[in-house]
Amino acid sequence: MRSSLLPAATAVGLCAGLASASSKLFHGGTIIAYDSGSESIRVVRDGSLLVTDDRIAGIFDESPANGTLPSGTERIDVSGQIISPGFVDTHRHGWQTAYKTIGSNTTLGQYVGRYGEFASAAYWTAEDVYNSQLAGLYEALNAGVTTNLDHAHHTWSNATAYAGLNASIDSGARVFWAYTIHPLQTVDFSLSEQLANFRDIAESRIWEDSPTELAVAFDFWSQLDSETIEEIVSTIKAANVSALTAHSVSGPFGFVNVPSTVHSYGILNTSLPVVFSHGSFLPAVDAQLLRQTNQFISITPESEMHYGHTHEESFYLQDQAAIGVDTHFTFSTDILTQARFWLQHVRYRFFTEVAKRYEEPATSPMSVSQAFKLATRYGGLALRRPDLGVIEEGAKADLIVWNARESPALLGWNDPVAAVMLHASVGDILHVTVDGEFVKRDGKLTAENYQAVRQEFLKTAKRIQDIWRDTPYPVAEGPNFAGFEQVPTRQVDIQRGAGTGYGELFIE
Ligand SMILES: *[C@@H]1O[C@H](CO)[C@@H](O)[C@H](O)[C@H]1NC(C)=O
Ligand SMILES: *[C@@H]1O[C@H](CO)[C@@H](O)[C@H](O)[C@H]1NC(C)=O
Ligand SMILES: *[C@@H]1O[C@H](CO)[C@@H](O)[C@H](O)[C@H]1NC(C)=O
Ligand SMILES: *[C@@H]1O[C@H](CO)[C@@H](O)[C@H](O)[C@H]1NC(C)=O
Ligand SMILES: *[C@@H]1O[C@H](CO)[C@@H](O)[C@H](O)[C@H]1NC(C)=O
Ligand SMILES: *[C@@H]1O[C@H](CO)[C@@H](O)[C@H](O)[C@H]1NC(C)=O
Ligand SMILES: [Zn+2]
Repeated sequence: MRSSLLPAATAVGLCAGLASASSKLFHGGTIIAYDSGSESIRVVRDGSLLVTDDRIAGIFDESPANGTLPSGTERIDVSGQIISPGFVDTHRHGWQTAYKTIGSNTTLGQYVGRYGEFASAAYWTAEDVYNSQLAGLYEALNAGVTTNLDHAHHTWSNATAYAGLNASIDSGARVFWAYTIHPLQTVDFSLSEQLANFRDIAESRIWEDSPTELAVAFDFWSQLDSETIEEIVSTIKAANVSALTAHSVSGPFGFVNVPSTVHSYGILNTSLPVVFSHGSFLPAVDAQLLRQTNQFISITPESEMHYGHTHEESFYLQDQAAIGVDTHFTFSTDILTQARFWLQHVRYRFFTEVAKRYEEPATSPMSVSQAFKLATRYGGLALRRPDLGVIEEGAKADLIVWNARESPALLGWNDPVAAVMLHASVGDILHVTVDGEFVKRDGKLTAENYQAVRQEFLKTAKRIQDIWRDTPYPVAEGPNFAGFEQVPTRQVDIQRGAGTGYGELFIE
């Protein structure tokens, strides 16, 4: 067993060296820790976890003697509870929260034409972006999502760009806020103005005292001229951003952005992490290129099913994959649900390969610990942050305490990973920390102004939803922008005979 009591000298060193350090000891819980040396989960039962400032300072089999702890250590009794790392969401559009529930039946084309960055540009104020981003981040923190890579495509003006960044900083979440560079038609904000705004933000370093970091999103690797792309690439390189991301949805959807195109601009095989969201219709050579350059896709299981842009290739690229949520206004915001969807979908997929040959599957295709790692450790790896998504000495103290002692859903648990992956829900999350600070405690968000944030958000949601209710749906007929024909799907009718057909939406 690797875990042992912290040598007294180290603990004394902690006390002496960091006079103003703040420490917390979570004692008596079952810890889903990680051993990055062997890339395996390490369960410590009835152990304790010492957090000093923003980092995990020690993991112990038993509670360390009081004298060995930094002075003033706060003790938090988590006996009977489960401690896991916070989840990492590698693809999200946080600003869209205000569309909640009004996109329940959209296809991808309808999403782009109605709720996407271009359809929304002319209607959202900076205040709307701030309120919607902040409320969405609290929703994520409440669900134990402590890190997210936000493809922030609300960059329609200097003000809306800053609004989303400011909300990210103010939330206390760990947001890799990816400034989106995009050609806009409905608002007056040219690419060169965007680059000026981006440089301005990069120089401001206003996120520096928060867990938020600056990243970039760019989706036009195949659609803009190479001179423009080269200028964008050199701006990204000069800004020393923490990540780069792009939607990669090829096939009939036409958002090509494959790794080989990005590689041709000399920015794939560098120290910069590049995350390709979805990776739908990813050619085999591009999958290999991700392996060669150690870059990741973000599988967003629910969105790829909801909109139908699919993940047929992702089943075979799970060694270079992490999990994401995508457009949380249309469905679950939490990574736990996404990872669970994915686990069972992978099982379904590979069971079916056997069963449809009239043979009986004799083994299960995927384990709960693999799904758990995709949702935690692999998110950290996608961002090239080995200190995220793991509970290990030296890692960031981004933690979830699950109410395994009292939740009826978890009563009788034995395997803590199975308890989380297959039985727990967001409602069972008792505490959440980011950088060692409680963002949720005893089942409630700790943000003092949360009630005010809710009120402001509701005003934004009402204003936005009133506009969208009265906006006609785009007609999906003929070829799409990439030249592929748009055709209807089969629509199920759950009522036999003179049924009710497709059903209705209840938006007022
Ligand atoms: C440490 O001190 C706390 C009170 O601060 C006490 O409740 C606890 O029992 C002590 N633990 C040990 C191991 O001495
Ligand atoms: C969703 O429902 C609305 C209202 O019934 C309808 O106008 C729209 O076409 C539907 N979208 C799709 C993709 O079916
Ligand atoms: C964002 O925050 C900065 C201070 O860090 C402030 O100067 C600026 O006005 C804010 N902008 C918006 C749009 O909220
Ligand atoms: C946006 O910010 C850029 C960079 O600071 C500046 O040059 C430009 O004038 C600003 N635009 C507006 C409309 O304020
Ligand atoms: C770039 O950022 C990394 C970490 O964010 C930092 O360690 C490094 O010193 C930075 N490099 C430059 C040239 O600023
Ligand atoms: C990536 O860079 C390394 C050297 O840093 C080189 O050995 C490798 O061949 C490169 N791979 C690709 C696919 O360009
Ligand atoms: Zn997306």
